[in-house]
Amino acid sequence: MAANWKMFKTPAETTVFFTNFLPLVKDAGNCEIAVCAPFIDLPVAIAATHESNVTVGGQNLYWAKEGAFTGEISGPMLKAIGCTWVIVGHSERRQYFGETEETVLKRTKAAIEAGLKVIVCIGEVLAERESGQTEAVLQAQFDGGIAGLSAAEFAQIVIAYEPVWAIGTGKTATPEMAADAHKAVRALVAAKFGADAAGAIRILYGGSVKPDNVSSLMAQEDIDGALVGGASLDPVSFSKIVNY
Ligand code: 13P
Repeated sequence: MAANWKMFKTPAETTVFFTNFLPLVKDAGNCEIAVCAPFIDLPVAIAATHESNVTVGGQNLYWAKEGAFTGEISGPMLKAIGCTWVIVGHSERRQYFGETEETVLKRTKAAIEAGLKVIVCIGEVLAERESGQTEAVLQAQFDGGIAGLSAAEFAQIVIAYEPVWAIGTGKTATPEMAADAHKAVRALVAAKFGADAAGAIRILYGGSVKPDNVSSLMAQEDIDGALVGGASLDPVSFSKIVNY
């Protein structure tokens, strides 16, 4: 169960969040919990979650290890401060910041080389869904952004299926729609990396996940977790999702 805070919360607000959140999820069994926070909040988040059952991640990285790349943060930097995870290829980065399949693959490889685990995001926009192209889009994103990983690299990723039209809109994909997309993604994994990898890969659903719809989503066979935006900002609401 992963939180994507996007561009929300100051370090002080991060401290308050964890003070309230950690006791609510301390008994969450059989579930990995990650919070992906803005860069400036990461040191506070990592200190707060030390010796807890919650891990922390960034929301983006640059693929060079270091260099003259003003404004960027590298994989080794995230690793050095204690991040476990990083999100790559979120639809907001594709839409507003020019992320492509090629840069998704570069960032993912760089993150894994730095020792991070990666949540790689894929998903179709509304026009693509309405014109029946969902599976073709997922295939293109998989082929360009994920299929170029080695088997060992692939073992370090989690895939998040996020239909772009369901993000922040309150329009969740129905559990059946999500289940169909997850099944299609798992089939792509099986074709490229084999049946064992397809069984082992965790595929998260993201897009308006809330405490009251998480159970029906998680009941679907191919949905292994959630990547939660808005509902992860409130400790009670995210704890309800974690403890569904
Ligand atoms: P919302 O949960 O706010 O729809 O955001 C989903 C998302 O983009 C998570 O990465």
